[in-house]
Amino acid sequence: MSKEFIKIAPDQLKENAFNLIGEEWMLVTAGTAENFNTMTASWGTIGILWHLPVAMCFIRPQRYTFEYAESSEFYTLSFLEPGNRDILQFCGKHSGRDKDKIKGTGLIPRHTDLGNVYYEQCRLVIECKKLYADRFNEESFLIPELIGKNYPKKDFHKFYIGEIVSCLRPA
Ligand SMILES: Cc1cc2nc3c(=O)[nH]c(=O)nc-3n(C[C@H](O)[C@H](O)[C@H](O)COP(=O)(O)O)c2cc1C
Repeated sequence: MSKEFIKIAPDQLKENAFNLIGEEWMLVTAGTAENFNTMTASWGTIGILWHLPVAMCFIRPQRYTFEYAESSEFYTLSFLEPGNRDILQFCGKHSGRDKDKIKGTGLIPRHTDLGNVYYEQCRLVIECKKLYADRFNEESFLIPELIGKNYPKKDFHKFYIGEIVSCLRPA
């Protein structure tokens, strides 16, 4: 039987964002219930902007997930139950262009009330509605070493700022 998930308010989140995103990692998923893609990410932020609870993710343009993030109104950030590191490794190593990540990992897709995809294996889901997106500009970097370290190929991330429209946890 599938797990029951309940909604919690963003201000009820108890997690430390540095550990949650930077150490635990997450799956960024975008697309429709029938056609979606997911990738592992360890860069992101959670906070307040424009008086709204927001979460950001950063996607390089060569990712297959980028195409889905561009064409979707929403994206989800999925944090998996402990013991699923192999799933995160797989989704961070292979592209959905040449591997079926669902078959390859055993991820079990589920859908939010809005029809956005998350997974049975989640311990937390953050569902976001895109508000703003832009790509980092080379000219705007104030510390040039950041470019050399992170963008030797000048493949600057696009960042997506999304309003957190729901947070889900297993009941
Ligand atoms: C731990 C980890 C963190 C990652 N974080 C990001 C990230 O924040 N942004 C990004 O664009 N790629 C990130 N990646 C790389 C993508 O997950 C990887 O390129 C993936 O294969 C893309 O899949 P796709 O082509 O199906 O979108 C990360 C990979 C790993 C292993």
